[in-house]
Amino acid sequence: MGGLEREGHEQVERRTIGAAALAVGAVGLGCMPMSWAYSGSRQRGEESLRAVHRALDLGSTLLDTADMYGPFTNELLVGRALKERRQDAFVSTKVGLLVGEQHIVANGRPGYVKRACDASLRRLQTDVIDLYQLHRADPEVPVEETWGAMAELVRAGKVRALGYCAMGARGGRRSGAGLHDATIRQLRRVQQVFPVTAVQAELSVWSPEAGDALLPWCAERGIGFLAAMPLGNGFLTGTLTPGQGFEPDDVRARHPRFTAEMMAANQPIVVGLRRVARRHGEDVTPAQVALAWILAQGPHVVPIPGSKQERWVTQNARAATLRLTERDLTELAKLPRAQGSWE
Ligand SMILES: NC(=O)c1ccc[n+]([C@@H]2O[C@H](COP(=O)([O-])OP(=O)(O)OC[C@H]3O[C@@H](n4cnc5c(N)ncnc54)[C@H](OP(=O)(O)O)[C@@H]3O)[C@@H](O)[C@H]2O)c1
Repeated sequence: MGGLEREGHEQVERRTIGAAALAVGAVGLGCMPMSWAYSGSRQRGEESLRAVHRALDLGSTLLDTADMYGPFTNELLVGRALKERRQDAFVSTKVGLLVGEQHIVANGRPGYVKRACDASLRRLQTDVIDLYQLHRADPEVPVEETWGAMAELVRAGKVRALGYCAMGARGGRRSGAGLHDATIRQLRRVQQVFPVTAVQAELSVWSPEAGDALLPWCAERGIGFLAAMPLGNGFLTGTLTPGQGFEPDDVRARHPRFTAEMMAANQPIVVGLRRVARRHGEDVTPAQVALAWILAQGPHVVPIPGSKQERWVTQNARAATLRLTERDLTELAKLPRAQGSWE
């Protein structure tokens, strides 16, 4: 079946993640761009809040945040929405990274994790976090100790389930194969301590590496998968122009795929997404195809596109009704590999 279903209710279909079968909207909302990593984020609080409400209205229930975003202001913003409609949302936040004067540092000490959770609960204006994710493992602390502290938070009723972020694998990307080998080794270790409900990692048409080993590893164990940066930091939406430039506080100002040269070199990927979109209707967008591709990777996968704009939240939620055909998926699998790496 092709095309976007336009009739009936507007609510995004549900997916279940993890052994506990937590139900969430099939397309979530990444709240990071509202307060962090993208230019202009900090000045657009009210607009961002409207975007969160729009997501909840549409059934995009999973709101992904982190104490580090802002820092802290992103959780405060999400908390304003949760205060009014906690029952409509599935709140997923993260612990384990601290923003210092010069750089970001990991902290996985058990006492810190417990204090950080209490602080997140206060900022989020809730008494329970649905999914508490380890943002980064602390190389100074055995991951079992950090995870053990997080498990105690579940037993204390402050957290419903635990998740693990598999980011920061740039070194692995340099060496090519086995990008997520180290992550899988760590996941095996934490699984001995307490079940992992969801893994969060980058997954998109232009960064498909998680599909090689990590995604199947999760699927075999009934672990959910949250696809971060599903729109390639906005590139895959086709709304960015090569050479447009980014403010210094925008992560893309330093991202090797966002130089004018690399954005131009990667245009065939957007062209391919647009070609598939056109087959499904005039109003179908490359962003929706990019998200539908993620949804087609398995029933345990939930993309969390980041946005602070109601119009994008609405468009992204509707990607849940776009069904890609075998022809679409074959074509997308043949798109050129993205150029520009962190090497
Ligand atoms: N665990 C981790 O370490 C980690 C790392 C990175 C990201 N994440 C999570 O993953 C989420 C998603 O990643 P991301 O936000 O960096 O990247 P993304 O979802 O790939 O792209 C976000 C960018 O795309 C734009 N956008 C969104 N929908 C659009 C549409 N339909 N048309 C045109 N532009 C659109 C947004 O603009 P506007 O902001 O103007 O709406 C924003 O600039 C984050 O919010 C965060 O929750 C986690």
